[in-house]
Formats: sequence, C-alpha cells, structure tokens
Amino acid sequence: MHKLRMGIIGTGLAFERLHFPAYQRLADKFQIAALCDIDGSKLEKWKEALGLSGGDLYTDYREMLQRDDIDAFDIMLPIELNFKVTEEVARAGKPIICEKPLAPTKEEALKARALPRRYGVPIMIAENYRYSTEHNIMRDLVRTREVGDVYYFIQNRVVNFPEDMHKPGFASTEWRQHPEYPGGVILDTGVHDIAALRHIFGPIDAVHSTKLRLGQNPCLSHLSWSTGMHSLFLPC
Ligand SMILES: NC(=O)c1ccc[n+]([C@@H]2O[C@H](COP(=O)([O-])OP(=O)(O)OC[C@H]3O[C@@H](n4cnc5c(N)ncnc54)[C@H](O)[C@@H]3O)[C@@H](O)[C@H]2O)c1
Repeated sequence: MHKLRMGIIGTGLAFERLHFPAYQRLADKFQIAALCDIDGSKLEKWKEALGLSGGDLYTDYREMLQRDDIDAFDIMLPIELNFKVTEEVARAGKPIICEKPLAPTKEEALKARALPRRYGVPIMIAENYRYSTEHNIMRDLVRTREVGDVYYFIQNRVVNFPEDMHKPGFASTEWRQHPEYPGGVILDTGVHDIAALRHIFGPIDAVHSTKLRLGQNPCLSHLSWSTGMHSLFLPC
C-alpha cells in the first residue's frame, strides 16, 4: 500500500508529544517526508531521528509547498497562524490536518470553514477529544438514556497557568505567555471542552458569558442546549 507522505509544519510540543507518537504507531500508513519549522535547531534535532536529508528540512513552509511528492500537510503552529497557513496550503491544493482551533478569530474561522469547498481539498481539524474513549462512553450513556434525562451539569476546568509556565509543557511555550495572544485559555484548552460537550450533548442554542475579575481571562458561561438542558462552564 502506498504510504501517505506527510509534510510537517511546526515541530514543537504538539508534534513531539501527540502527532509524532501517532505517526510512529501508524508507520505502515504514513511516512514523514519533510519538516518545516521557523526554528532551524528543532529541525536538526528531528533530522536524524526521522532519517531525513538536509533537503527535506525547511524554515519557510511556502518552499515546502512547491514539492509535488508530498500527499498532505500537518499544521501544528501557534494558534494565531492556524488560518493563515491553512489557507495557503489549501490554495496549493493539498489535503490538510490542522491542529485546533481552526482559527484565532470568528471571522477567520468562518473563512476557514469555507476552504475545503473553495479549494477542493479535505481539511481535518485535529480535535482529539472527539475520539477519546471516555467521551464516547459518556456520549453513549446520554444517547441511550442509560443515565436518565440530563437537565443540568457543571464543568469546571482549572489550570494553574502561573505555575505551569515554569514547568516543561504546553504552558511553557513562549507564545502562550503573551497577553495579546488571541483567545487565551478559551481558544487553547476551552475549545477541547466545548468540542467534547457538543459531542456528548449535541448542539448549543445560546451562550451567555460573563468575564470574571480573576487571573488572566476566565469567563463563566451559561449554555442552553437544544435538548432543553442547561449548564455552567468555567475554564480558568
Ligand atoms: N490537540 C491537542 O491536545 C493539542 C495540544 C497542544 C497543542 N495543540 C495545538 O497545536 C498547535 C501547536 O501548539 P504547540 O504546543 O506545539 O506549540 P509550540 O510552540 O510547542 O510549537 C509550535 C512550533 O511552530 C513553530 N513556528 C512558529 N512560527 C512558525 C512559522 N511561521 N513557520 C514554521 N514554524 C513556525 C515554532 O518554532 C514551534 O516549534 C496549536 O495550534 C495548539 O492549539 C493541540
């Protein structure tokens, strides 16, 4: 079987901890053909491990897009670049996996939603919470009404960013530590929770959010669901 030859854009933590281990497990189906990162030292680190040559390493993803031996691109960049780069890859006519969220703003998210039809390419947003065993178990319990009728629930997501940023991990990345970084914890972590909740409970009809005067940018949201259910969601 022809292995899909992947071009990787962004070789940071999401690649190292999430996508690379998955490519290793799926080595009979995927081959990493080329890598791009603006930070050349990261490319050198991966070159030997992946058996790539210097010609397979790029610091500018536009150059990598010129290659005709890459079947699809996997985008793992700081969130503010997600739409911009996805659009350029789609315009080059290449299938895409892009990390969540699909864009940093609502305007760009709407444009991102139109890209597959506009350029005739498949685009998958790597929202992994929809594939997790526990979320699928919860969805089945709700769908089959084994837990009875759900009227109300509360979800709290608590992250200690000031402490986590000093440990090796996602909070330590430089771009997440800037106040101007769009969306803050809501776009970075909160989108996972919303995706999982919609996966379990279905569509949301209305959202009412109140900004709290606590920490970086937490807000308390009251969600009304199409099933008549109500919930409170507090990521902070
Ligand atoms: N699904 C999940 O559970 C999950 C978890 C963490 C991160 N993510 C997502 O993955 C993406 C990346 O997050 P991360 O934690 O890996 O960040 P990161 O900072 O560790 O990695 C981003 C990489 O992109 C590189 N980069 C920046 N600008 C570039 C450019 N113009 N061209 C090429 N490379 C460039 C950086 O040098 C860095 O290596 C984000 O969209 C984030 O939301 C998803």
